[in-house]
Amino acid sequence: MSIFNYFSSNPDVRAKYIFNLIAPYYGRVDHVLQGKYQKTFEILKDKCAIEGASVLDVGTGTGAWAAMYEKHGLSDIQAVDFAPKMLFESQKKYPNIKFSIGNAEELSEFPDQSMDIVTASYVLHGVTSEKRAKMLSEMSRVARKYVIINDFIGKTPAFVRFLEFMEKSDYKHFKLHFEQEMQPYFNKSERIFVEYGTGLYIGHK
Ligand SMILES: C[S@@+](CC[C@H](N)C(=O)[O-])C[C@H]1O[C@@H](n2cnc3c(N)ncnc32)[C@H](O)[C@@H]1O
Repeated sequence: MSIFNYFSSNPDVRAKYIFNLIAPYYGRVDHVLQGKYQKTFEILKDKCAIEGASVLDVGTGTGAWAAMYEKHGLSDIQAVDFAPKMLFESQKKYPNIKFSIGNAEELSEFPDQSMDIVTASYVLHGVTSEKRAKMLSEMSRVARKYVIINDFIGKTPAFVRFLEFMEKSDYKHFKLHFEQEMQPYFNKSERIFVEYGTGLYIGHK
C-alpha cells in the first residue's frame, strides 16, 4: 500500500488506497453513521415495500448501510466492496451479512434480477459520470424491484467538502445531474430530500 497510489491516474487505485488506509477509523464511526442513517431509513420504509426483501449493498465499506437493513428485520443481505480492509472491518461486526470482494461496475457474480433491492450508500458521488453509468446499469440489471441510493442532496457541510476534495470525488456533478442520470434505467425514479446534505434516490423497476 504505497503513498504513490494516492497520486495514481487510475481513480480505482486511488480510491482503494484511501479506503484501505482509513478502514480502521471508518469502522469505529459506524454507529455514528447508523444514527444518521436512521431517519433516512424510516423514509425509505414508507416509500418501498422492503419486508422480506433480498438486498445487495454495493460499496458497503464497513457495513453501516447494509446493517440498517438487518436492523429493520431483513435477513437475506449480501454486500460487496473493492477495498479488502473495509470488508475486514465489516465482517468482524456483522456475521449474518454475506460480504465479498466485488466491483460495483461489474457485478457479474449476480444474475439478472437476482436481488429484490440493490443499494449503495455514499458510493456513486465519488466516481465520474461514466463510472456511475456503469454502476447504475449493473445495479439495475441485478435488481428485481428497487435500486436505492443513499447519498448527497443539496448543500454539503464545509468539512465534508474538504474530504471530497481530498478524495477528488465528483460530488458536485453528482448532486446536479444524478436524478437525470437515473432516468433511462427505471420506470420511475424519485429524489427525496431527508435532511441537511443528504437524501435518497430511488429507482423503481
Ligand atoms: C464513502 S464509503 C461508503 C461506505 C458505506 N456504504 C457507508 O455508507 O458507510 C465508499 C465505499 O465505496 C467503495 N467503492 C468505491 N468504488 C467502488 C467500486 N467500483 N466497487 C466496489 N466498491 C467501491 C469504497 O471502497 C468504500 O468502501
